[in-house]
Amino acid sequence: MTQAAAIQFDRFNALADEQAEARILEARARLGKRVVILVHHYQRADVYRHGDLTGDSLKLSRLASQTDAEFIVFCGVHFMAEVADILSRPEQVSILPDLAAGCSMADMASLAKVERCWRELEEVVGDPDRLFTPVTYINSAADLKAFCGEHGGIVCTSSNARKILDWSFRQREKVLFFPDQHLGRWSGWKMDIPLEDMAVWDPDLEYGGLTPEQIRRAKILLWKGWCSVHQMFQPSHILRFRNQYPDGLVISHPECSFEVCRQSDEVGSTEHIIRTVKAAAPGTRWLVGTELNLVSRLAEEVKAEGKIVQFMAPTVCMCSTMARIDPQHLAWCLENLAAGQTVNRIGVPQHEAVLAKLALERMLAAS
Ligand code: 13P
Ligand code: SF4
Repeated sequence: MTQAAAIQFDRFNALADEQAEARILEARARLGKRVVILVHHYQRADVYRHGDLTGDSLKLSRLASQTDAEFIVFCGVHFMAEVADILSRPEQVSILPDLAAGCSMADMASLAKVERCWRELEEVVGDPDRLFTPVTYINSAADLKAFCGEHGGIVCTSSNARKILDWSFRQREKVLFFPDQHLGRWSGWKMDIPLEDMAVWDPDLEYGGLTPEQIRRAKILLWKGWCSVHQMFQPSHILRFRNQYPDGLVISHPECSFEVCRQSDEVGSTEHIIRTVKAAAPGTRWLVGTELNLVSRLAEEVKAEGKIVQFMAPTVCMCSTMARIDPQHLAWCLENLAAGQTVNRIGVPQHEAVLAKLALERMLAAS
């Protein structure tokens, strides 16, 4: 029997948001328990409200490995849907409603560049497999997770990076941390590693732009990657807030710069930020350094308790790639699923998935 052709997206592009909303609800009703919608905290409100399960990257990867649904529709970014594919059962299907929803930080490290780094390390220090644990932030492509799996390494998220570094140093003396230098630096510093013992590896320069001495001395090599959304937050924003509200509290995501993290009262993952502000005393005022959709939603949710939540930057800082998942794309993929057509499936090749799963399972066991 031949399958009907997939419904094309251009028929959904022109839908008004309310029309898309109605079609999402209709398609969901037809699909029932066959589909689960996982949503990251940065998602826009008109998509967030359709989530069955929400969370930070660690929570979402755990949830992806536990769900029984046939279709896991991931309203997040590409690497999150890859993790869902890797951790779910083979018969489950992971779907990203818009394939253009990537993570610009994840794109700052590629397998070719990490392999080149590994070769250059070998020239300087001998077999890197004996000296370095490779640690990849979950914001990275599946082939980098596979690289870590293959080389005795591990994955971390913003909520377990410190524990994962502990694990990593129990395996070997040094760590190569990619792609987010800020998360690596903050987590290393929290373990009392001096800043001088953490060197930045620039993947566009030979030997990372470091001398052999610098490489030998470094306890952690920090890949020169960053999240452009979180680099918008500045220590001057915190200073202004503290001058204005001496009793105010500051909470930031560890993808922020070292100085922003250092000047914050609390640093943690998106889930940690939400949990902390929700658990805080009524009447408290918070300055929050993370993506705007999360902060605006949190501000609304705690308003009734008299808590005030302010966004850290004076400019709009949204994760523009995450925002590509809109109600139109969600309606389109759900209607296709309800019609028996799988669109935008994220499938990690088997050989990669096996090794990436190894690195992810090490993380789940260690965190
Ligand atoms: P969390 O794991 O804290 O949700 O962070 C994911 C992310 O991409 C932050 O920019
Ligand atoms: Fe990637 Fe930054 Fe968006 Fe997080 S906020 S998904 S790190 S681009």
